[in-house]
This record gives sequence, structure tokens and C-alpha cells, in this order.
Amino acid sequence: MKNTALITGASSGIGKELARIHASKGGDLILVARRIELLNSLKEELVQKYNVTVEVIQKDLSVLGSSQAVYDEVTQNGWQVDYLFNNAGFGGKGAFLDRDLEADVEMVRLNVMALLKLTHLFGKDMKARGKGKILQTASTAGFLPGPYQNTYFATKAFVVSHTQGLAHELKGTGVSVTALCPGPVETEFAKVAGFGGSKMFDGAASAFKTALKGYNAMEKGKVICISDFKFTFLIKGMLPFMPSRITAAIIAKMQQS
Ligand SMILES: NC(=O)c1ccc[n+]([C@@H]2O[C@H](COP(=O)([O-])OP(=O)(O)OC[C@H]3O[C@@H](n4cnc5c(N)ncnc54)[C@H](OP(=O)(O)O)[C@@H]3O)[C@@H](O)[C@H]2O)c1
Repeated sequence: MKNTALITGASSGIGKELARIHASKGGDLILVARRIELLNSLKEELVQKYNVTVEVIQKDLSVLGSSQAVYDEVTQNGWQVDYLFNNAGFGGKGAFLDRDLEADVEMVRLNVMALLKLTHLFGKDMKARGKGKILQTASTAGFLPGPYQNTYFATKAFVVSHTQGLAHELKGTGVSVTALCPGPVETEFAKVAGFGGSKMFDGAASAFKTALKGYNAMEKGKVICISDFKFTFLIKGMLPFMPSRITAAIIAKMQQS
């Protein structure tokens, strides 16, 4: 395999578009998610259209030990991961104390622990080779307090912070790490998180445009990519001057719309 990208959450949304973009550049792929039939149909599409090599791994990454199992399968097959896209993730609506804690713990295992483990395993190999690129799908939520989707916002704050620190540590190694921070995007995310029909997703960005911005930012070695310009001013220009209780009140209203 050559110029190989491993993409988690490749069965739909942003991950699926990242796979299409990478394949369109002639790169090979390892696609990871739970829904194997969706991975196989994407594989068929990409092999036919771009004549690339595509492998699929069916894995629930919220299960303890699953990221190690993915790494073991990759290395045992002799595949080299040149690009790592830590993209799988989900959210969940509701007041923290009223939510099923197990669902939030599963969210932390996927959005944080799987990302951390895969970055550690594949990042070490990349550093040893002096070459590699990592794209972490975070969110604009990572810059904000998140009442009524509190654990999700906190997982993305972890990803933003971890990426910023790691990017510094990786300077001069030939390995880069980028956090893609979208606002609302048209994918299965809203339905899975319990926001079906919510006004918050009116005018959501397309998954393709979001993935392309992230991919290009990763290629340039940028650390943070806020993919929707509407949020760039909010996050960089306004947020630093707003008291966090006001920001929290605005976010609470948006989550309940
Ligand atoms: N859409 C938005 O508004 C938005 C905004 C900011 C950030 N994001 C972030 O973007 C990333 C991609 O989400 P999306 O918007 O493209 O939503 P999506 O269409 O729901 O895609 C989520 C992907 O994650 C995979 N996934 C979920 N649980 C998994 C598990 N336990 N193990 C392995 N894979 C799992 C899903 O595949 P299977 O179900 O087949 O496993 C799917 O491929 C997420 O990290 C999300 O937090 C989304």
C-alpha cells in the first residue's frame, strides 16, 4: 500500500468525505467503523473510481482494547499508516445529571480514549520514520462551555488542547498534527446526538466542504482549522472578551432550540 490513510468513522459524514478526497489524490486507505456494509460499499466505490487499494476494519472503537487491536491488525499485515484521521465520534443531548452516564462514558472512550491511543501508537511510528500527518476531528465545541451537551463539548476541548500541545512537541520531527474544528455539519451526527429537527443545524455546512478544509489544513501543517468562517470571528474575535457564564447561557439556548 502507498500513501496510506487510516480513517476512523469512515462509514458516513466527514470521515467518508475524507476517504473520497484521499482516494482522489491516489492514496490508499484503511477504513474503520462498526457498519461493515457501508465500509464495503465505500471501498467498492473508491476502488472502481480511483483504482486505489482499500482495506476495511470493522471495529467498535469505544470498546477497551479496540484501538490496540486495529494497530495490531495494521502492523501484522505490514501496512504503513502515513496519514491518521481520528474522526469517529458522537454527541448526546441532555442535562448531564439526567443523562445515562454509561452513554457519556462510551462517548469519552470513543471521542477521547480511542483518539489518544491511536495517536500514540501510530504517532510513534511516524516520528521514528520522520514523516506523517495526523488530523483530529475536534469541533468549535472544543472552545466553548457546553450546557445540555456538556460531556461532548468537554471531549472536544480535550482534543483541541491535546492537539495544540502535541503540535508543539512534534516540531522538527516531520510529523504534524491538526485539529479540524467544524460548526454544525450535515451528517448523521445530529440524529445520533438527539438533535433531529433542531434549528441549530439549519444552514449546516456540507460534509465534503468541511472535510476538504480539514484535509488542506492538514497538508499545510496548520494546528487549528476552524472550517466554517462564521465561527472564526466568534471563536477568535469575540469569545476571549465574553464572560463564560454569558457564553454558557447562549450555548444552552442553542442546544435547546
Ligand atoms: N456533524 C457535525 O455537526 C459535527 C460538528 C463538529 C464536529 N463533528 C465531529 O465530526 C466527527 C465525524 O462525525 P460526523 O459529523 O461525520 O457524524 P456521523 O455521520 O454520525 O459519523 C460518525 C462516524 O463515527 C463512527 N462511529 C461512531 N461510533 C463509533 C464507534 N463506537 N466505533 C467506531 N466508529 C464509530 C460512525 O460509524 P459506525 O456507526 O458505522 O460505527 C461514523 O462513521 C465526529 O468526531 C464529530 O464529533 C461533527
